[in-house]
Amino acid sequence: MTPEEFRKRGHQLVDWIADYRTKVADFNVMAQTAPGEIRAQLPASPPESAESFDAIFSDLEEIILPGLSHWQHPSFFGYFPSSGLLSSVLGDYASTGLGVLGLSWQSSPALTELEEVTTDWMRQMVGLSNNWSGVIQDTASTCTLIALICAREKSGNIVYVSAHSHSSVNKAAVLAGLTTHVVEHDQYFAMRADALEAAIERDLAAGLKPCAVVATTGTTVSTALDPIESIARVAKKYDIWLHVDAAMAGSAMILPECRSMWQGIEDADSLVLNPHKWLGIAFDCSLYYVRDAQHLIRVMSTNPSYLQSSADTQVKNLRDWGIPLGRRFRALKIWFAVREQGVSGLQKRLRRDMENAQWLAEQVRATPNWSVLAPVPLQTVCIRHQPKGLEGEDLDRYTQAWAERVNRSGKAYLTPAILDGRWMVRVSIGAILTEREHVEALWVLMQQLVRP
Ligand SMILES: Cc1ncc(COP(=O)(O)O)c(C=O)c1O
Repeated sequence: MTPEEFRKRGHQLVDWIADYRTKVADFNVMAQTAPGEIRAQLPASPPESAESFDAIFSDLEEIILPGLSHWQHPSFFGYFPSSGLLSSVLGDYASTGLGVLGLSWQSSPALTELEEVTTDWMRQMVGLSNNWSGVIQDTASTCTLIALICAREKSGNIVYVSAHSHSSVNKAAVLAGLTTHVVEHDQYFAMRADALEAAIERDLAAGLKPCAVVATTGTTVSTALDPIESIARVAKKYDIWLHVDAAMAGSAMILPECRSMWQGIEDADSLVLNPHKWLGIAFDCSLYYVRDAQHLIRVMSTNPSYLQSSADTQVKNLRDWGIPLGRRFRALKIWFAVREQGVSGLQKRLRRDMENAQWLAEQVRATPNWSVLAPVPLQTVCIRHQPKGLEGEDLDRYTQAWAERVNRSGKAYLTPAILDGRWMVRVSIGAILTEREHVEALWVLMQQLVRP
């Protein structure tokens, strides 16, 4: 493809995406596709000779599009919002189009320096002190793995988590060769600092070696908030690493009124937040912050001859800040979006979503047989409908069935999950296009579809 052909096809693709975003509300939110249906329409072997771009585009439209669930749909209330602001999408295009790799500062100086600037902008936006240094990784899973490897290099092998920690925390512990111990949580699903201390004491008495605690600001199922300040006090007392998983709630810290949710964060050793969730930076873009950058570099650095340059003593080589050598120019996505929105634009949208969540919670609480099962500090509402006399596994089956009916209707997308041993339905609000009218329509739909 020549640059001229690229210009033509690129315009066509941008038009196609602009059209998609304009009409996304017309699609069924969840793909109504049977397993294997898309694959059956695709050739099993690659084409021997070149195909026309028209043929590729037509398959994109006819085969791929119908096989998608639409995360940018205004009635997408599943998992978590992953709202790719269009300005950030353009930043991603620019990154891919430039095709530069950050192996070292010299391999693309602006890539490294823009990453330094944008991670520092984000640090200021979420109200962290300048004791923190940040770097962009692909996902929170990677950030937590890096944190636990760094913790392991200090001492110990036991990692304290709660039953509400994300599955990536357990996975990171396994990959780092560490053992997890689960600390009890309170009635709001937040880790108990006194239980953490007791668990550490028990382990020390048994001759085990505590290593780290992972606290969560905004758990996956219910956006519960572990008490960072008191957990940090315990971590300090026993000299163990404190990593804070703020993958979901970190975006909310751009709102000064939310920062009490991670009170004590300055005493953590590392933290992750995912701008590719609610903030609206196109996936993937995860921020990892540390207070002791030198320790991170000691653990992660490599320095083969072919990557050395005369600038090395004056610059950051971000390969030493994480696992992969090659680095995409992800900072462009943050840079484009933060400049295009301004901090106040981003704040306004997040406040809208939080108000919508409060509105929904109020409706649910006020309606017989419906309940809100967890506090609603952010934009996720955990809901159950319990007709009289329905309990236990019958209630579980009922809950999963009505959630499935909502999803199959194509009109909204919800994620059921287990909270406190029983199924319930999460409504995670925060797609860019989601306004109050969409939340109102969801509430009407749920009330209709709880009845088969
Ligand atoms: C609290 C929390 N931590 C970690 C993750 C994992 O994020 P990622 O897909 O970036 O690894 C999630 C995603 O749902 C999450 O909610």
